[in-house]
Amino acid sequence: MSKNFDTRMMEWREQIDKCLFKIIAGSSYPAEFKSILDYAVFPGGKRLRPILFLEWHSLYAPPDESALLFACGLELMHAYSLIHDDMPCMDNDDMRRGKPSVHKEYGEGKALLAGDALLDLSYNCMFEACRDKSSSLIMFSAVRGDLGIVHGQYLDLYGKIGSLDDLINVYERKTASLIRACCVIGYTFMQKLDAKEYLAVLYGALDGDGADDDNVAALIKPLSAYKFGHNFGIAFQIFDDVSEYIAGEKSDGTTVLDYLDLDKAKALLNTYLNAALAELDGEYNGDTAYLREFAEKFVIV
Ligand code: IPE
Ligand code: IPE
Ligand code: MG
Ligand code: MG
Repeated sequence: MSKNFDTRMMEWREQIDKCLFKIIAGSSYPAEFKSILDYAVFPGGKRLRPILFLEWHSLYAPPDESALLFACGLELMHAYSLIHDDMPCMDNDDMRRGKPSVHKEYGEGKALLAGDALLDLSYNCMFEACRDKSSSLIMFSAVRGDLGIVHGQYLDLYGKIGSLDDLINVYERKTASLIRACCVIGYTFMQKLDAKEYLAVLYGALDGDGADDDNVAALIKPLSAYKFGHNFGIAFQIFDDVSEYIAGEKSDGTTVLDYLDLDKAKALLNTYLNAALAELDGEYNGDTAYLREFAEKFVIV
């Protein structure tokens, strides 16, 4: 690693926070509402999603301003999902990041609108960031789309979850879909890939229509980003379950600990983590050591 890991993470977080601050300050909402958006976004959590975007991007080329903007759009989408996730009609959580959740502080109406506003801002800045990179947006809607957060959250709240497989399916949608999008779009952001062909390969149509051999070779690394994001995303949600279990929090009936004992849950987490890390073994333009350390840091129990 040419730069110390912690320094690099601190620098990413500073750049991300500065950009997020500008996005909210530059919006046309009333000052009172902007302060609610700030409350939801600062001080941040781990900034895991934009950092994954920037690290995957760095495996191809150094990120520029538009990459940073896109990465922040993904963090805003995460922030929206947390506000709604905490509301009484969903998980009914009073606290988030060590302070009252947005609806506790400002009431449900404002919290609902703050979530909506962050989602709007998220799409706005991703659109702005990839004006001339339409394939990134196509990929984004496909990677998120109906595979994404809302679908997962619906299943989490109202689906029939009767087995570990059902639960992992929910995790793939509610958590891994956004994380995966960060990795795939981060890596492919500057690249001129044929989005249709990429999706054909992604959804297993390798031997079917479209993808010729040269292009399939060009898609191997984006697929690694996809698999990394998928596996790391599931490991991350299992880590959330395991940490809450160890901290003595009561399960709401939808965690891996409802199906596995602690040792088996940790083993499952490691299986997903190792599957993610294996995708970093190939040759990349940038240094994979940061991503490796980053991934390990956030799911080690
Ligand atoms: C919390 O995500 C929700 C899950 C998907 C487990 P994070 O743990 O990334 O939240 P922050 O942004 O760091 O607070
Ligand atoms: C949050 O999942 C996932 C999304 C917000 C999409 P959880 O409900 O398990 O996460 P925490 O524990 O509230 O952070
Ligand atoms: Mg939830
Ligand atoms: Mg929750």
